[in-house]
Amino acid sequence: MTERKKLVAGNWKMNGSRASADEIRAMIQGAEALRSQVEMAICPPAVLAGLAGDLVSGSALGLGGQDCHAEPAGAFTGDISAEMWADVGARYVLVGHSERRTAYGETSETVRAKAGAVLRAGLQPIICLGERLSEREAGETLSVIAEQLERSTPVPDETGGIVIAYEPVWAIGTGLTPTLAQVAEAHGRLRQALRARLGARGEGVRILYGGSVKPDNAAGLMSTPDVDGALVGGASLKAADFLAIARACAGR
Ligand code: 13P
Repeated sequence: MTERKKLVAGNWKMNGSRASADEIRAMIQGAEALRSQVEMAICPPAVLAGLAGDLVSGSALGLGGQDCHAEPAGAFTGDISAEMWADVGARYVLVGHSERRTAYGETSETVRAKAGAVLRAGLQPIICLGERLSEREAGETLSVIAEQLERSTPVPDETGGIVIAYEPVWAIGTGLTPTLAQVAEAHGRLRQALRARLGARGEGVRILYGGSVKPDNAAGLMSTPDVDGALVGGASLKAADFLAIARACAGR
């Protein structure tokens, strides 16, 4: 069976400030202790990228962006390219988060272009997808997420180190989570879609679960088949909670 090292990534969204440096230092310490078992990363707001990049440089804590533009540079006011994320030392960029798909009308085609840009910059895109509550209630979850994967993932020859994050929209920031059986079913379907799209390489792609991951539910979620780590929102802002989740992921 293909070994996939688990990844726990923190999506800070529009939270944090320069005063978050102490939390980042504590996260670095914790990440060092877990480095043989789990990869860890934080995705702070872009204005904190320089500060965070300097702090995590050379450490076991990786840096990621929350979004990027598909072009490398140019007249795109307010945007940040994947190359810029690489320049501040990032390893990952989140693309296609449901908040961006919903609030900024990003389509899966836009997401695929952004993911391709992240690969072009030598970084790993964390491609987010997941069903809405109405889609789950209509019994459409598996077809919706398989289609999102198909349309949001770059074509095979561009694909190196992609990561998928399954985040049911209704589980984000709500305290609700799918049952472990529902998580296993969704991740199994995504694995199957990855194999269909990428052949044997699909086996090596990590599939993270995201949506209300907390210290007290992480152990169950992280030991579910085909769950290769977590994309954590609210609980990634405090080192104590984020590290507790990473330890659960490491089986400690
Ligand atoms: P919460 O962990 O706050 O539910 O957020 C999940 C998420 O959207 C991570 O990208």
